[in-house]
Amino acid sequence: MLDILKVTYTAIIALALSHIPAASAATTPQLGKSPIRDVVKAMTLDEKLALIHGTGMLVSNGNGPVVGSVSGAVPGAAGTTFAIPRLGIPSIVMADGPAGVRIDSLRPGNSRRYYCTAFPTGTILASTWNTEMARLMGKDMGQEAKEYGIDVLLAPAINIQRNPLCGRNYEYYSEDPLVAGNIAAAFILGAQSNGIGVSLKHFAANNQETSRASVNALVPIRALREIYLRGFEIAVKESQPWTVMSAYNKINNTYCSENPWLLTDVLRRDWGFHGIVMTDWFAGRNYPAQLMAGNDLLMPGRKAEVKRIREALAKGTITEVDIDKNVERILELILQCPAFKRYRYSDNPQLSAHAQTARTVAEEGMVLLKNEQQALPLAQGALTVLGNASYDTYIGGTGSGEVAKAYAVSLAKGLANAGYHIDGNLLQAYHHYLSAEKAKQPKRTSILQKISNLPEKTWTVDELQQMAEHSEAALITIGRNAGEGSDRKADDDYLLTDSEKSLIDKTAKAFHAKGKKVVVVLNIDGVVEVASWRDKADAILVAWLPGQEGGNALGALVSGRVTPSGKLAQSFPMRYADVPSASSVAFPGEPAAHPDSVRYDEGVYVGYRYYNTKHIATAYPFGYGLSYTSFSISGLKLSKRTFDGELTATVKVKNVGKYPGKEVVQLYLAAPALSMDKPTEELKGFVKTRLLKPGQAQTVSFTLDARALASFSEKTGRWVADKGTYTIKVGNASDHFAQKATFALAHGMTMKP
Ligand code: BGC
Repeated sequence: MLDILKVTYTAIIALALSHIPAASAATTPQLGKSPIRDVVKAMTLDEKLALIHGTGMLVSNGNGPVVGSVSGAVPGAAGTTFAIPRLGIPSIVMADGPAGVRIDSLRPGNSRRYYCTAFPTGTILASTWNTEMARLMGKDMGQEAKEYGIDVLLAPAINIQRNPLCGRNYEYYSEDPLVAGNIAAAFILGAQSNGIGVSLKHFAANNQETSRASVNALVPIRALREIYLRGFEIAVKESQPWTVMSAYNKINNTYCSENPWLLTDVLRRDWGFHGIVMTDWFAGRNYPAQLMAGNDLLMPGRKAEVKRIREALAKGTITEVDIDKNVERILELILQCPAFKRYRYSDNPQLSAHAQTARTVAEEGMVLLKNEQQALPLAQGALTVLGNASYDTYIGGTGSGEVAKAYAVSLAKGLANAGYHIDGNLLQAYHHYLSAEKAKQPKRTSILQKISNLPEKTWTVDELQQMAEHSEAALITIGRNAGEGSDRKADDDYLLTDSEKSLIDKTAKAFHAKGKKVVVVLNIDGVVEVASWRDKADAILVAWLPGQEGGNALGALVSGRVTPSGKLAQSFPMRYADVPSASSVAFPGEPAAHPDSVRYDEGVYVGYRYYNTKHIATAYPFGYGLSYTSFSISGLKLSKRTFDGELTATVKVKNVGKYPGKEVVQLYLAAPALSMDKPTEELKGFVKTRLLKPGQAQTVSFTLDARALASFSEKTGRWVADKGTYTIKVGNASDHFAQKATFALAHGMTMKP
């Protein structure tokens, strides 16, 4: 049915486009050859209306949403634009997403598979705190997109991890906008170095999935500027993404896609964005308002959009001149695209090189939370590997961030690859158990359908004692998955289930009785509760959703071939109730059954800004992560004692332990609170060192500009830095500062937004 609709719609558009003014081919302007304005002038209204919306979307063979295509575009891509051949305008193709290119691996009548690399997800990429890793992953993902015929990659997704229960946190980077913005900028520069574009999404404050298409986020302007927009601002200014995707939700009563303040004043005027804005898929209600607001392209494209815009044109609420602006910008985008350049893509990206990148990023992004008495690394030998997710590892989340990959290395397989002896009987037992349990689950018919966590396979005390007898240590994996379309729950999701707690408890008793260690691996999409059970584990390692090479990355860390160097890009609270947005009014909003509005009353006090300022202890703080080695941070020097527009801080970091490793040096700033209240610390810079051998040192430097000192004043609509004493705190976590120094600002400063 939908197929028929799609064909009919395409036919109608084709027909409409055939009613064009008579003009000889010689005099018809051509995109790329004639000035864009001339091309726009030569377009009929029908052609303009075709160009400002995509070619539509259909649902195919029960495998979830798949896009229809004009002339043979890439199956499984998320959207395409209309081609207007008489003006030399090709169709361009867009595909998700943040953890790898999302296209169909199967094509009718073709026996080969079109696999893509399942890279580590956004959260684990950010946990590397390594912009070089982000650039590399962006470059590889961009190459893969280009070689499969994609013009615009719908990534990265950098909404703030405001609350641990957001279903899409796995795609997102951090609770801090500096981490999110810098990692995103590096990813974008890497991706766009291939000559394809990205879509930085979801602009903005799309921090929950509950009622995502309509919820009204009531966010104070200061919190918007400092937290929810700041990451986008950094990424836009530093990497000029070709496109930005406006978010589904409303901010302060206006849909993001219909919001001229957001899309024109802030994005274009304040930040100097030159690209196009497209809607998220089917976002917003008022299509003419979207165009007027500066939302150029309506995706994936619907008939109703054109109808409403025609009505608005007839009424005069929008004019053809208004639409010309959108059209011009879309043409500028198309001009840069591989499709316009007739790039002959190979359909053969460098998958094995990209798998290597996926592995390296996963190795750098896993975070060691606990390591009592150097439980890790584990010596080679027999390992008891427990927990469903050890064998059926979650490598990515669900929704548009899913990837059709060639393979996935489970954590158990990765440990075996790293040389550990994994009991074959245990492996068999888990395989039987998991296939039987999965068979009981309803068939998954859409990418928006969550994957249910299965109850843990249980073991008797006797069995665990036997295992403890015959192996050197136990490794238990706790798995969590989430994704687009719904948020997580506190019970049995944020909190561990009874069967998981019992598995940890019984295993710890059996193994500790024999003097053997227990390692817990968290294969999770987002933060889970750890405080109530962590005493039972000797070591805890967060593997996140690590991509297709996750198992091999874990093997490298557990064996000590690689020293962990990931740091948390979000706080792990002691209890969910401690989260600043824990009340239901704050997340996911009210009324409870179907929230239509959500209050961001915590303002800028998100994550560590809140825990530090209010002195609320966390289980593991933002910026935290252990290593097998240790580092000293010393010799903090400031380039000046009085700020005059720019200041440089340098510090020496030395590996004083026994393993080669990398450290993340973090600079926080405490600013005077004269005109506004301030968090006690805010991250203003971070550097990941190169691999330092024991005894080796590196000097790292940070530059602070005037904006780094400032907060956004709602009163004046400007960035304001108060005069007074500023304290720089340098360390390796948001609660651990090895060095401090102060500087003065003699006179307050204000800056335009
Ligand atoms: C998601 C976007 C995605 C788009 C296209 C939407 O549902 O929110 O992130 O890019 O679909 O697949």
